[in-house]
Amino acid sequence: MAGLLAAAGVTTLAGTARAAGTLGAAAAEKGRYFGAAVAANHLGEAAYATTLDTEFNSATPENEMKWDAVESTRNSFTFGAADQIVGHAQGKGMKVRGHTLVWHSQLPGWVSGLGASDLRAAMNNHITQVMLHYKGKIHSWDVVNEAFQDGGSGARRSSPFQDKLGNGFIEEAFRTARAADPAAKLCYNDYNTDGANAKSNAVYAMVKDFKARGVPIDCVGFQSHFNSASPVPGDYRANLQRFADLGVDVQITELDIEGSGSSQAASYTTVVNACLDVSRCTGITVWGVTDKYSWRSGGTPLLFDGNYAKKPAYTAVLTALGGSGGGGGGGATCTVSYTRTDDWNTGYNGRVTVTAGSAAVSGWTTTVTMTSPQKISATWNGTPSWDSSGNVMTMRPNGNGNLAAGASTSFGFTVTKNGSSAAPTLGTCTAS
Ligand code: G3I
Repeated sequence: MAGLLAAAGVTTLAGTARAAGTLGAAAAEKGRYFGAAVAANHLGEAAYATTLDTEFNSATPENEMKWDAVESTRNSFTFGAADQIVGHAQGKGMKVRGHTLVWHSQLPGWVSGLGASDLRAAMNNHITQVMLHYKGKIHSWDVVNEAFQDGGSGARRSSPFQDKLGNGFIEEAFRTARAADPAAKLCYNDYNTDGANAKSNAVYAMVKDFKARGVPIDCVGFQSHFNSASPVPGDYRANLQRFADLGVDVQITELDIEGSGSSQAASYTTVVNACLDVSRCTGITVWGVTDKYSWRSGGTPLLFDGNYAKKPAYTAVLTALGGSGGGGGGGATCTVSYTRTDDWNTGYNGRVTVTAGSAAVSGWTTTVTMTSPQKISATWNGTPSWDSSGNVMTMRPNGNGNLAAGASTSFGFTVTKNGSSAAPTLGTCTAS
C-alpha cells in the first residue's frame, strides 16, 4: 500500500490530520481523558454547560457523591444531584470519576457517633450501596480519600474510621469496593503527595504492601492543588512514575494551580508533560470548569476565566496535549468596538464589532456589562449567556466563529433604559 501511494506521488500521510481543538479530544489522542469537577447546580448555566460539554470528556461530581450528600441519614440514599451529573455526562459521551466513598470530611454526624462494629457495617454498606447504584457508570472511584496526615510524620490521619477501625479500614474499604463493582478502577486519593515526601512515602508503602498482599487497588490519585508560591514539585514526574512502577495507574485528580498568565501556564505545562511521560498516567481532572466557581474563593486557578474565556493556561494545556487552536495566549487575537445604532425614549440598540487580529480565529468571546437598572431585552447574531446579576452578558458566535485575519463580524442588542442612558462597558475579546 505504501508503495502504491508513493508511486502515485503521495509521499506522506503523517501529520495531515488536523490537530485536536479541545482538551478532551487532544487528551484522547494521547490515550487519556481530560476531565473537570462539576457542580450540579451550575449545569443550568448555558456557558458552564457548553464549556464542559465542548472541552472535557470526563466529569467528577465536586460534592454530590460525598457521604453527606448521598447518605445524610443512615441507610437512606439520595442520589438526585449526583444522578444529574452522571446523566448529563453520559448524555454527552463523557466518562465519570466517582468521588469519594470514605473520607473524614463532609461526613454526617451520625457516622462519627457510631461504635466500631456499627461503623464498620455502615462503611461497608455505604460503599456497597453507592457503588451498586452507579455500577458500570464510573470509570474510577476514589475509594478512600486523604487518610494520611500532612507534615513530616507519615502517620495516618485521625478520623472516625482510623480511630475506631484502625489501619485496616483502608484495606477493608477496597475489598468491599471490589466486590460491589469489579469493573471500576479503585483509587486511593490524596493531596500534598505530589512529590516525594513523608506523606507520599507513607502512601507508597501502603500501596506496595497492598500489591504484595493482593489487596485490590488499581490507581493512586494525586490531587495536585498547587499554589503560585509553591508550584509543581521538581520531582512530580518521578513521583508519579515510582507509584506507576508498583503496578497501579496514576491519575491527576483535582488539578488547580493558583496564579495567572505565563507562569501559571508554565506550571500547567509541567503537569501535563509529566502525565504524558508516565505511560500509566491515564488522565487529568481539573478541579472546576471556570475560575468563577473555584473552591478557592477569589482564586484564579483554572483554565477558563470567570467569563469562560480561555486563559493562557488553557492554551498551554492544549498545546502540551498536542492539540491546537486554543487561543487565549497563542497567536489568535481579536478586538471589539461598540456603536449605539438607534436611540429612543425608553431604549436603544447597540452593536459590537468583533475584528480578528493578524491571525485567523476559529472562535471568540467577549462581554458587555450593562449599568443597572438597564437591561438587555433582545440580542441578535450571537449566543448570549448571563451572570447571576443579569448585568453581564457573555457573547459567543452563533455556529462557527471563523474569521479570517483582519475580518470582522458584529452582534447587536436592545437595551431597556429604565431611566439610565449610560453606555455599556465592553470586556476584552478572547479569540481561539
Ligand atoms: O451546598 C451548601 C449550601 O446549601 C450552603 O448554603 C453553603 C453555605 O456554606 O454551603 C454549601 O456547601 C458547600 C459546598 O462546598 C458546596 O458549595 C460547603 O459549605 C463547602 O464546604 C463545600 O466545599 C467543598 C469542599 O471540598 C469541602 O470539603 C468544595 O466545593 C470542594 O471543591 C472541595 O473539594 C475537595 C475534594 O473533595 C477533596 N480534596 C480537596 C478539595 C478542595 O478542598
